[in-house]
Order: sequence, then C-alpha cells, then structure tokens
Amino acid sequence: MSRIVYVNGDFVPEEDAKVSVFDRGFLMADAVYEVTSVLDGRLLDFPGHVARLHRSLSELGMGCPVSDDDLLAIHRDLVARNGIVDGLVYLQVTRGNPGDRDFVFPDPAVVRPGIVMFTQAKPGLAESPAARTGWRVISIPDIRWGRRDIKTVQLLYPSMGKMMAKKAGVDDAWFVEEGLVTEGTSNNAYIVKDGCIITRDLSSDILHGITRAAVLRFAREAQMTVEERAFTIEEAKAADEAFVTSASAFVMPVVEIDGARLGAGTPGPVATRLREIYLEESRKAAI
Ligand code: PDD
Repeated sequence: MSRIVYVNGDFVPEEDAKVSVFDRGFLMADAVYEVTSVLDGRLLDFPGHVARLHRSLSELGMGCPVSDDDLLAIHRDLVARNGIVDGLVYLQVTRGNPGDRDFVFPDPAVVRPGIVMFTQAKPGLAESPAARTGWRVISIPDIRWGRRDIKTVQLLYPSMGKMMAKKAGVDDAWFVEEGLVTEGTSNNAYIVKDGCIITRDLSSDILHGITRAAVLRFAREAQMTVEERAFTIEEAKAADEAFVTSASAFVMPVVEIDGARLGAGTPGPVATRLREIYLEESRKAAI
C-alpha cells in the first residue's frame, strides 16, 4: 500500500512525490533531518526534535519553511493518514532548488528551503527482540566531518559503518577518534562501570541525542551516577555493561565490543532498567 507523504505543502501518494535534481539536498547533502518515533500513534520527545532541528538549521544559515505548530500538525496528520501505531516520522529540510549546480549558497530571499516528511511503520517497535539479546558492535575509525552536532543528511560514512558491521556479522559499529569512542553509527554510546553510566560529553564531536538527554535525566532522577566524558575502546571492553540510545532504538543494550563479551554477555541491569524507564516516561509524555 502506498504511503501518503508530505512535500512542500502537499500531502501526496509517495509515487507522486517529486524533488528537483537541482535540489541542494540531493546534489550537496545540503540538508538537515530529524527522526521522531511514534508509539501508540503518539510522538515521542517531539519538542526536543523541533528544538534540535532549529539549531541545525541556524548553524547552516537556513530558515524553517514551516511554523512549529504546523510541524506538529503535519506530523500528526501523516501518522493519522498512514494509520501509524508504532513507527517513525522522518523530516528533512533542504536548502532548496536554485535551478542549477553551484557551490555558493543561493540567496535565501530568492530560493526557499524545501521540506519533506514521511512515515515508516514499525509494528512492535518498543518490543524489539534485539533488546532482549543485546547488540554486538565493532569499532571503526571515525572519519566523519567535524560538525557532527549538526544533523545533516551526510550519512554515507555511517552507512559504510553499518555495512562494515554487517560484513563482520554484528549489529552496529562504534566510531573511534584519537583512541576515544565518539558514538555509534546512528546512536549515542554508553558504558557502565561499577554502577556509573559513562557517555561522551557534548561537543561538535557527536550528535546531541534527544534520547540521550531524556535518558540521562531519567538516570539522574533515579539516583544513578552519570559521568559525561570520553572513554576508550579498551575501557569499554572491560566495562560491566554497555548500551546505545536513539529515537529508533530507544535504549538498546550492547553485549559485545570487538569480540569481547561484556559481563555475562546478556543485557545488563542498568541498560534494562533505563529502557523500561525511558519507554514508560516517554509514552506518558508523548503527544
Ligand atoms: N539517528 N548519533 C547519531 C550519529 C545519530 O544519527 C543519532 C540518531 C543519534 C541519536 O540521536 P536521537 O536520540 O536524537 O535519535 C546519535 C537517527 C535515529 C537516524 O539517523 O535514523
């Protein structure tokens, strides 16, 4: 069944949705995106995703073509039109179509940014069987650009990282730069040692995860100890447990890093508890 997608003001069947070959998102990866999860037909962490969208856009000198109220209305409309119970809403804002290829940004007064949104149905998203067994990850060099805090659509290297993981027969890859873990291909990375949750501090080296912010808040509210600092792969391999967070994986336990099994090789108690708290609290606050 064809989805209804949103393209620059119109709701259209996906096969009728068109973007110009001169669109800078297509030619230059000059575009930013957000992914918001949907559980029980409601949006999780929506205000956080909108706030980060504005930050990404402003770092690139782009405006948002749609008001915040309309962003919410369009998200809800797409969820309803596509009958999404559990799944994701993808949103992308591109600098638009200047009508030709040129490295120079077009005048924003002349070329308006473009915006597209679509849904992905993921029945049972919160009951992922992987959460019961945990992910195995490998480490790979982080050779991405230096502004990973901006959520751009430059996802070629993260895709290559996923393919390296797939080839190695594992679930994902963690990026390592100057001996220190930055983050996962599409998630933030954490280890737990002696009850302390350790995750890289915020900077332009990593994406400022919306799930990360919520999970750290819930961890602190539950009197868990949190240390925001970089850690090495060696430290991770010797950790009691590990996990990743993202809008699509929530809190996903990690049970093996570069072939080294963590603890008993099963999801640890901290990751398991944080997943429960995150899902419970986020469902309550969903809109
Ligand atoms: N990825 N780090 C990277 C590199 C990411 O791509 C993502 C999200 C995160 C986690 O951010 P958040 O908690 O706000 O989802 C961290 C999304 C889900 C994706 O590309 O599909």
